[in-house]
Amino acid sequence: GDAAAALRSLVLVGLMGAGKSSVGRRLATRLGFDFIDADTEIEKAAGATIPEIFAEHGEAAFRDGERKVIARLLDQPRIVLATGGGAFMNGETRARIRERSHSIWIKASLDVLVKRCARRSNRPLLANGDLRSTLDRLMRERYPVYAEAEFTVTSLDGPHEAVVEEILQVLP
Ligand code: S3P
Repeated sequence: GDAAAALRSLVLVGLMGAGKSSVGRRLATRLGFDFIDADTEIEKAAGATIPEIFAEHGEAAFRDGERKVIARLLDQPRIVLATGGGAFMNGETRARIRERSHSIWIKASLDVLVKRCARRSNRPLLANGDLRSTLDRLMRERYPVYAEAEFTVTSLDGPHEAVVEEILQVLP
């Protein structure tokens, strides 16, 4: 479709390691939209890193901040917003995203997620326990909910550019 003509912001959802930020940045460039990373905005608002927020205030406090920050960001037109993997699991956030943006689930296999998440270590949910079994559990819990996004694209073990192209194809 004529993606550049779309006025609605785009919101990327999916598990940690799906490539939401990398794909989002490239997608924004292609569309001439601003790119915003919700996790970064939460950190700015809190004046603390995500691991610090989890450690000092707990996951519930993080989720509360996440819900508020995303509600604010959705007021902006023509942005590509990468959300943290848990954001779309909140019913209120999900309803808002579906109402105000084009939501896109970047779906990836367990193998791809494990490979990508092995590199970075700023994710409290992956700090303890076996990476593969944690991601496997999160996939089971979350994939049925992520499926409520407006569009689904698949990220294979290839360049992020391929996912960008796939998104540009499916957009209205
Ligand atoms: C989380 C994903 C993270 C971050 C936080 C919790 C989750 O974002 O919001 O660590 O619940 O899946 P990314 O998906 O960008 O890693």
